[in-house]
Amino acid sequence: MELCRVPRWSLWLLQACAPRASVGQRRWLGCPGGMSGPLAYRGFSSVASRTPEVTLTQERYPVQRLPFSVVSEEDLVAFEHIVPGRVVTDPEALEASNVDWLRMARGCSQVMLKPRSSEEVSRILRHCHERNLAVNPQGGNTGLVGGSVPVFDEIILSTALMNQVTSFDRVSGILVCQAGCVLEELSQYVQERDFVMPLDLGAKGSCHIGGNVATNAGGLRFLRYGSLRGTVLGLEVVLADGTILDCLTSLRKDNTGYDLKQLFIGSEGTLGVITAVSILCPPRPKAVNVAFLGCPGFAEVLQTFSTCKGMLGEILSAFEFMDAGCMQLVQQHLRLDNPVQESPFYLLVETSGSSTEHDTEKLSCFLEQVLGSGLVTDGTVATDESKAQALWALRERITEALSRDGYVYKYDLSLPVEQLYDLVADLRARLSSRARHVVGYGHLGDGNLHLNVTAEAFSAVLLDALEPYVYAWTAGRRGSISAEHGLGFRKRDALGHSKPPAAVQLMWQVKALLDPRGILNPYKTLPARA
Ligand code: FAD
Ligand code: MLT
Ligand code: ZN
Repeated sequence: MELCRVPRWSLWLLQACAPRASVGQRRWLGCPGGMSGPLAYRGFSSVASRTPEVTLTQERYPVQRLPFSVVSEEDLVAFEHIVPGRVVTDPEALEASNVDWLRMARGCSQVMLKPRSSEEVSRILRHCHERNLAVNPQGGNTGLVGGSVPVFDEIILSTALMNQVTSFDRVSGILVCQAGCVLEELSQYVQERDFVMPLDLGAKGSCHIGGNVATNAGGLRFLRYGSLRGTVLGLEVVLADGTILDCLTSLRKDNTGYDLKQLFIGSEGTLGVITAVSILCPPRPKAVNVAFLGCPGFAEVLQTFSTCKGMLGEILSAFEFMDAGCMQLVQQHLRLDNPVQESPFYLLVETSGSSTEHDTEKLSCFLEQVLGSGLVTDGTVATDESKAQALWALRERITEALSRDGYVYKYDLSLPVEQLYDLVADLRARLSSRARHVVGYGHLGDGNLHLNVTAEAFSAVLLDALEPYVYAWTAGRRGSISAEHGLGFRKRDALGHSKPPAAVQLMWQVKALLDPRGILNPYKTLPARA
C-alpha cells in the first residue's frame, strides 16, 4: 500500500494554529449572564442585579403545582438530623440552584440537602416519600432542558458532596465512583493512569457523572466510544421510597435477567437518584490529531464525511460541524479567532490512535484528497494538545457564545444526516427578522443537529413560531426531538412527536411502579396529564 507523505502545507498550518483557549481546564460554567464562582450553591446576589431576572417557570408556562406537602419546621429538623450542617435554607444561597444554566427556568425551592452517602440519600427519600414531599435531584446544574431545577418548591437534592472515587482497576479500566464526581476531575484522574473517560462535553468542568448518566449525555466522544448505555457497567440507585438498589457491578457481561440499570440511564431523576456509577474507561490514545476545515456548502460537508469515514476508518474519533453563524458568534462574544478562511461551514475532524506516524500519514492523505477535490477550501491541523484544544474551543464553546447573544431557543435533534441542515435554512426563511440568529452545529458523525435561535429576550410569539413546528418537522423525517439533552421540563410535552402513545403509556406505568407518589422530579420528562 502506498503511504501518502505529509504535505508541506500541513506543517505550515500546524504553526498557524496558536493556542487560544483552555477548554480542558476546570472552568465553572456560571450563568451566561455573568454569574460566576466555583460552586453552584454560592450566592450571586451582586450579579443578580446586573442580569435580567429570570421569570418563574410557573409564571411563564401553563403548569399547576401538584398536591405535594410543603416543607415544615419538623421536616427541617428531620433533615438536619440526617445531614447535619448540610441543610441549605438561605434564599441567597439557593438562588443559583433554582435557576438553570440557560436562565430559562426558575423554581422557588426553599431547601437544598447535600448528602455525602447513599445511606443519607436513602434516609432523605424515605422521609420525603412518607411525607409526600417532592424532590429535584441536581448534579452540576448544566442541563439544557430545564430538568435540573425545581418548577415550584421541590426540595433540591444535590450530589455536590458525593464526590469520591471508590476504585479504579488499572487492568480493565473500570472506574467506580460516587455520582457527584465532576466529569473533568474524573477525566484527569483516569488520564493520570493512562485512560480516558468515554464521554466528554463542554460542560465537563461543572457537570457530575451522575447527571451525565441521568441525562444519558452524548457529547464529543460518542462517535468513538458510543452511548453511556454501553459504557456504564453498573449503577447504585436510591428509589423514591428510600430503597437502595445495588446494581453496581463491574462486569462486562451479565445476562442475569432484565438490565435494570438501563431504566435509570436517561431517566432524568424521575425514577430514582443515582448515587454511584461503574464505568468502563478506554485506554488513552497515544496519537491525537485535530483538523479544522472550511467547507463551501452542506453538500460538500456530507461528501467530506463519507470520504473521511472511508479514508480514516478506525482512527476517526470525532466529526463535528458548525455553520458560519456559529463562527461569527464565537468570534464576537468569546473573541476566538477563525484559524481558516471564512466559509459557509466548518468541520472539526479528530483522529485518535496508537501510532503518530500512521495517523498523521492517514490524515494528510485525507486532507490532500478533500482539498484537492474542492470539498474543503481551507484547513489547519494540530497535533499537540494545546493547539488541539484551541481548535476544539471553536466548536465546544458555541453554547457559551449563544447564551451571551440573548435568549436562546435550543433544539437538539436526531435527523437523517442528508437532511441535517435543511431545517436551519427553512427556519431562517420562516422567522426572518424575528430572530437575531438561527444557527446549526452539532455532532454530524452521530446525525445530531443542534439548532439554536437567539433573540433579544424571551418572546411567546417567537416560541409559537418555533413550536410545535420544529417538532412536527422532525417527526415528519422520523427524527428524534431530543437526541442527547433529554426532555426535562421544556420538552416533555413534545414526547409524543417521537414516541407512540403505547410507549408513553408504558413509561407512565414504569414511573408509577418505581415512584408511586410521583415525588421524584415531578413536571419533568413525562408529558403533563390533561
Ligand atoms: P443536572 O443539570 O444537574 O441535571 C440534569 C438532569 O439529571 C436533571 O433532570 C436532574 O434531575 C437529573 N440528575 C442529576 N443528577 C442526578 C442523579 N444523581 N440521579 C438522578 N438524577 C439526576 N449534553 C450532551 O448530551 N452533550 C453535550 O455535548 C453537552 N454539552 C454541553 C455544553 C454546555 C456548555 C452545557 C452548559 C451543557 C451541555 N450539555 C451537553 C448538557 C448537560 O451538560 C448534560 O446534560 C449533563 O450530562 C448534565 O449533568 P449535570 O450534572 O449538570 O446534571
Ligand atoms: C454541544 O454539542 O455543544 C452541546 O450539546 C450543547 C449545545 O447543544 O449547545
Ligand atoms: Zn451536543
